[in-house]
Amino acid sequence: MHKYSPSVVVIERGSLVKKKTGSAVVAGEAVEDTLNIRHVLKVADLSTADIITIIRKARYWKLQEGQTSDLRPLEGKTLGMIFSKPSTRTRVSFQAAVCQLGGQAINLSMNDLQLGRGESIADTARVLSRYLDGILIRTFSQGDVEEFAAFSTMPVINGLTDETHPTQALADLMTIQEKLGRWQGIKLAYVGDGNNVAHSLMMAAAKVGMDFAIATPPGYEPEAAVVNAAREVAASMGSVIEVGYDPEAACRGAQAVYTDVWVSMGQDGEKDARLEAFKDYQVNDELMSLASEEAIFLHCLPAHRGEEVSASVIDGPQSAVFDQAENRMHIYKGILSLII
Ligand code: CP
Ligand code: NVA
Repeated sequence: MHKYSPSVVVIERGSLVKKKTGSAVVAGEAVEDTLNIRHVLKVADLSTADIITIIRKARYWKLQEGQTSDLRPLEGKTLGMIFSKPSTRTRVSFQAAVCQLGGQAINLSMNDLQLGRGESIADTARVLSRYLDGILIRTFSQGDVEEFAAFSTMPVINGLTDETHPTQALADLMTIQEKLGRWQGIKLAYVGDGNNVAHSLMMAAAKVGMDFAIATPPGYEPEAAVVNAAREVAASMGSVIEVGYDPEAACRGAQAVYTDVWVSMGQDGEKDARLEAFKDYQVNDELMSLASEEAIFLHCLPAHRGEEVSASVIDGPQSAVFDQAENRMHIYKGILSLII
């Protein structure tokens, strides 16, 4: 296995400039057409400016919806999708985004690829780069996605690994901005597993100067390296990252409360132990009552009502989960129209 080299994937501002026609901004607002990155592998790689650029572009595409539009920046482009884990939102929102921007997406099932029979990631990346204009990958190892990117001459988008879920976090930031009108001064509480979604969300909060408080059961904390990196970024943005075990303390005064499944994909063998460990970490009406009155509830979905969230919360008036899910597609449009 080749080691990931950040220098392969991080390129200087301006070297990936692609001026596009038809990207004029609604209501006279300027939307940047440049990112500092070639691939979207993890939130830590994105600058605050990159995040704002992607979300503004996503917002631009969202506002185009329903209007007659001949803006097809992906005309003639083919995007690949490799899924080693199940997906509803990521798969369908990505494919819909590609189609709506005039391109086509092809599903590359692991069972159909030689990758599934031992062809190397490096060779697969080099070969697929000759056919495709970009690729979305959902798999187990973050290292595998980063290795793919190191050998790819087309942009690579991480559609979830065991460690991160960057495009989810971007949609989450977009949703918070839409619902609450700001990031700074917001406290985002996360209750549950210190997992891939928590890692990306924590770093995303830090990047935009939002306070973040996470409460997990002992033994299910987010990785220390991720916490330390997020704290460093947060300090430079004037926000704080709190890590603890008390869901009430995390939710007290929060403007957004977030949770995710207790048993992630690939953890089914730990299900019984996890259900026991997390049983006091359900986001329910009692916990939501500690949050700010304006608080919204977020969940990346899929949800398990009665486990990490009560039906009364996820189906209640504070829930923004379906707008959040919709924003996944707009974020993909934003990313694709910037990097392809
Ligand atoms: N939130 C999310 O990534 O959902 P899927 O697993 O359905 O893609
Ligand atoms: N943590 C969950 C997120 C699903 C979108 C998982 O990895 O299964």
